[in-house]
Amino acid sequence: MTNSIKIEDSYQGYSLDSFCIPKHYEEDLESVLIPYGVIHDRIERIAKDIFVDFGKEPLVAICVLKGGYKFYTDLIDKINSLNRNQGERSVPLSVDFIRLRSYQNDKSVGTIEVIGGDNMESVKGKNVLVVEDIIDTGRTMKKLLGLLEEFQPKCVKVASLLLKRQPASNGYIPEYCGFEIPDKFVVGYALDFNERFRDLHHICVVNNNGINKYKV
Ligand code: HPA
Ligand code: MG
Repeated sequence: MTNSIKIEDSYQGYSLDSFCIPKHYEEDLESVLIPYGVIHDRIERIAKDIFVDFGKEPLVAICVLKGGYKFYTDLIDKINSLNRNQGERSVPLSVDFIRLRSYQNDKSVGTIEVIGGDNMESVKGKNVLVVEDIIDTGRTMKKLLGLLEEFQPKCVKVASLLLKRQPASNGYIPEYCGFEIPDKFVVGYALDFNERFRDLHHICVVNNNGINKYKV
């Protein structure tokens, strides 16, 4: 992880009044942490870094749904744009979409199951890029990478839009990261709280009202 943007704990974000927020979320948010425009500008650079690193070799880009869908589509669009316009070379891309289900097995060890997606055998010998919305404790990502390794890809790299400074982190750090953020619950740009807020444009910090309203 090289050029990620670090958002300090002391950073208060922007006032909601400075941006356009859907009426249905007005009462549920504390601040705008990362405006949509900044998200896009940062993704443009991540796309360039990936384009440079992967050279001419085919790349299998796997989106971890649902939270990763906006980051994924914007990132792929920007890599495709480089592919169209760079002239000298391009990275052949294939796309795939997975969902992860976590459950406790009978030994009470948390495991994950990959649902949807192509047959995992298709990653054998390929360069793989896993695209995720947020890395929090890092446990899910470590398990997913363990699962992928069984199918013998040539290499696996991870692009996560956000990396939370989480005290309970297992230390996992992705190769590409948009923003390192404080240990706060964030929503928007496809990140949810109990399936709410995915339809929010900017990445925002949810407030207690929002937590209480949508907790299950
Ligand atoms: N927001 C949304 N989903 C998450 C978060 C978060 O802050 N942390 C882990 N999953
Ligand atoms: Mg996720």
